[in-house]
Amino acid sequence: MKALVLSGGAGTRLRPITHTSAKQLLPVANKPVLFYGLESIAAAGITEVGMIVGDTAAEIEAAVGDGSAFGLKVTYLPQERPLGLAHAVLIARDFLGDDDFVMYLGDNFVVGGISALVEEFRTRRPDAQILLTHVSDPRSFGVAELDASGRVVGLEEKPRHPKSDLALVGVYLFGPAVHEAVRAVQPSWRGELEITDAIQHLIDTRADVRCTLVEGYWKDTGDVGDMLEVNRTVLESLERRIDGEVDERSETVGRVVIEEGARILNSRIVGPAVIGSGTVVRDSYVGPFTSVAENCRITGSELEFSIVLRDSSIDGVGRIESSLIGRHVEVTPTARVPSAHRLVLGDHSKVQIRP
Ligand code: G1P
Repeated sequence: MKALVLSGGAGTRLRPITHTSAKQLLPVANKPVLFYGLESIAAAGITEVGMIVGDTAAEIEAAVGDGSAFGLKVTYLPQERPLGLAHAVLIARDFLGDDDFVMYLGDNFVVGGISALVEEFRTRRPDAQILLTHVSDPRSFGVAELDASGRVVGLEEKPRHPKSDLALVGVYLFGPAVHEAVRAVQPSWRGELEITDAIQHLIDTRADVRCTLVEGYWKDTGDVGDMLEVNRTVLESLERRIDGEVDERSETVGRVVIEEGARILNSRIVGPAVIGSGTVVRDSYVGPFTSVAENCRITGSELEFSIVLRDSSIDGVGRIESSLIGRHVEVTPTARVPSAHRLVLGDHSKVQIRP
């Protein structure tokens, strides 16, 4: 069995962060979301991975390399333009051969991994197995309609009037029958060859298509709140580890990770929280559900339920909550602005805030 991992796409819904960063590399608990996917593929006993890459190919390749860090063997498959998920399967034909495979969208996050699903697929060998989850707004997903016995009878990509609240999760298991199906579909209204239509084709031609309901799922639907929530979920299972320096005037409470090379000076860190290597927290409070990446400076400030990407500094600004802060951001004090701060800052942003 092989894996096809999709790491192209523009990430328009997470702008401005994705102006300068591949969406699959956005960190959850200081680790790129894509790495969780690769780890769960390796944990499911799969080693051969085809990685579909687009405009951000260089950044993805720099992060993942040959895959050996994950126990994987990664082959890069460039996709000229984002022409759809079924198109990705088309261009991966030679790589996949007639093997079964899991197709994994690199911006998706499935809590608990995929080992049980892969095992189920291996035992039953259907033509396709899809994962579904209940979502509050199905219109930004593929949506499934089930009959009374729980079989999938219809699939629709981003419907205006969804027939259910069951969204297609971006992890699909396929046997070789999918290759004929992806050749049969026509471009959708958004000009893409949709995998959703290819699976519908399998259903129409009476192939064996099964579905499994999952909980604990996230994708970048553009809502920064979603990203903070998945960060919270992952941080909740953190194990306390203090490898960096914590001076005697500081306190770390609960599930806190201080990476090697990080320094906590006259500060209080209340977990679950993670502080990346090279980061200095001085005269500050970092509260629960916060991830601060590498080489940041947090000085004279309070930070809670937030994600800070690498090389950013927050200096003397009072309290920041529910915020996603990009790379190389500087947040500094100024004279008069409202006292509540709720920020979504792109890489290289500069913002002035009253302390
Ligand atoms: C794609 C699929 C959609 C699925 C979603 C999950 O959407 O087309 O059916 O629900 O992934 O992430 P896209 O990310 O291309 O909008």
